[in-house]
Amino acid sequence: MKPRVLVTRRLLPEALAYLNEHAEVEGGTDPRGFAREDLKKRIADKDGLLSLLVDRIDSEIIRAAPKLRMIANCAVGVDNIDLRAARERGILVSNTPGVLTEATADLTWALILAAARKIPQADRFTREGRFRGWELDLFLGTDIFGRRLGIIGLGRIGQAVARRATGFGMEIVYHDPGRIPPDAEAGLRASRLPLDELLRTADVVTVHAALGPTTVHLLSAEKLSLMKRDAILVNVARGPIVDEAALATALESGKLGAAGLDVYEREPEIDPRLPALENVVLLPHIGSATRETRLAMAMAAARNLVQGLRGERPESLVGE
Ligand code: DGY
Repeated sequence: MKPRVLVTRRLLPEALAYLNEHAEVEGGTDPRGFAREDLKKRIADKDGLLSLLVDRIDSEIIRAAPKLRMIANCAVGVDNIDLRAARERGILVSNTPGVLTEATADLTWALILAAARKIPQADRFTREGRFRGWELDLFLGTDIFGRRLGIIGLGRIGQAVARRATGFGMEIVYHDPGRIPPDAEAGLRASRLPLDELLRTADVVTVHAALGPTTVHLLSAEKLSLMKRDAILVNVARGPIVDEAALATALESGKLGAAGLDVYEREPEIDPRLPALENVVLLPHIGSATRETRLAMAMAAARNLVQGLRGERPESLVGE
């Protein structure tokens, strides 16, 4: 008998077709997903769950699923899942690392450059028919080439961002609880610094840490106040790592140069001051959003689920 799986929201057709070959599938077509009470009812008889990063899979949901053996999250981040509750029940949890590294690093660079060179503002200005000819001081941005890049979280994505930075002649410093292997450090020409020193000295700071108890508001008001007045902060990791209200205050008061944000503290809500500011570029959590990458993520999640439910070892098990 095929295992029963629930897919919380719309999945790409290729991944849904693959799942249908191997399981009895419910869901997977509605982009808004199920209301919480409905989700609790539907999961009651399921062996597996394929969740997206916007689904809160907490202990209450896990309790509602007595047969659940495997949760495959279609994301690298698993902060939406109560891992302890899953572990206590012996439920396997998988994620989709690796496949989204390069796309996310590319988007990080898009945000760095867009914020440094005022690309969205210049685009709006041109579309509005306000371009009257070249001017010496039209949309003056800031140089990126040769500056210091501070990377918070030098995992896969942080390292991919660092590799691109060498083409911009940047000096790379990083903050991470663990030191990366010396040969990797040497290859990237990256030096590890305490967080405060990184924040005080970097011209561009990018955040790639995972969200967890030790990283909530890692960039608090106090930490943001250490940054240079003309520095740029980019966050493509998870919103709660940065105190969003404090960031809006710093940008509004000119204590921080600019920011590029792909993630927010209470998505999809955004601090109402941010959209009114000229010195911030705002994106709707599209770090990994290329056709190729999202397909690879959906297929990886589907494969993980099938492998786990068959009793095989999923390609990317969380916590191993
Ligand atoms: C992830 O996988 O965690 C990303 O945020 C998706 O873009």
